[in-house]
Amino acid sequence: MEGIRKKNAISKSKLVFMVLLAVLLLIQLVRPQKNTSDSPAGKAFVDTFQVSEQVNAILAVSCYDCHSNNTKYPWYSEIQPMAWLMDKHVKDGKEKLNFDELPSYGSRRLNSKFTQITKQIEQDKMPLTSYLWMHGGARLSNEDKKLLVDYFNSLMDNE
Ligand code: HEC
Repeated sequence: MEGIRKKNAISKSKLVFMVLLAVLLLIQLVRPQKNTSDSPAGKAFVDTFQVSEQVNAILAVSCYDCHSNNTKYPWYSEIQPMAWLMDKHVKDGKEKLNFDELPSYGSRRLNSKFTQITKQIEQDKMPLTSYLWMHGGARLSNEDKKLLVDYFNSLMDNE
């Protein structure tokens, strides 16, 4: 009799697995709102500051996903907890810098943002390392960096 009861009992590891699976399924239901808009990412910035196509192309690949009102979401953004991590990056990123909002800033605030941007680029702090794991093409080459830094420096000289 003892033997039969043991056979039917769910083993501890099976139970842990089932609970984990249930949690994994349940968290799929909690989806953060996406950061998207009808206007292309960075459009307001590009229109206001006569951004060259070359500079805009680099920003589009390397920065706009976290620093604009329009994120390009990859397929795995449908899966939790990936979407939560992305949501956090976009929220924190936009709080510090949103290219789509720069046109509404006064010159002092703009200068401070442009200084921050050149610093982040020169110190290789952006794009975030975790972003580069999945977006290898977003890594800035030395030419990209020079182009961006020269461009943002030129905006400050005009102030
Ligand atoms: C994966 C998302 C992501 C990408 C891509 C990204 N950033 Fe960020 N960025 C963040 C987050 C999150 C923060 C705020 C936290 C921090 O400073 O680490 C931030 C902060 C910043 C700041 C403010 C730093 C400060 O002084 O507080 C600047 C400037 C910046 N990013 C510029 C850029 C530029 C330029 C690019 C493209 C070359 C870029 N970022 C790409 C997520 C991102």
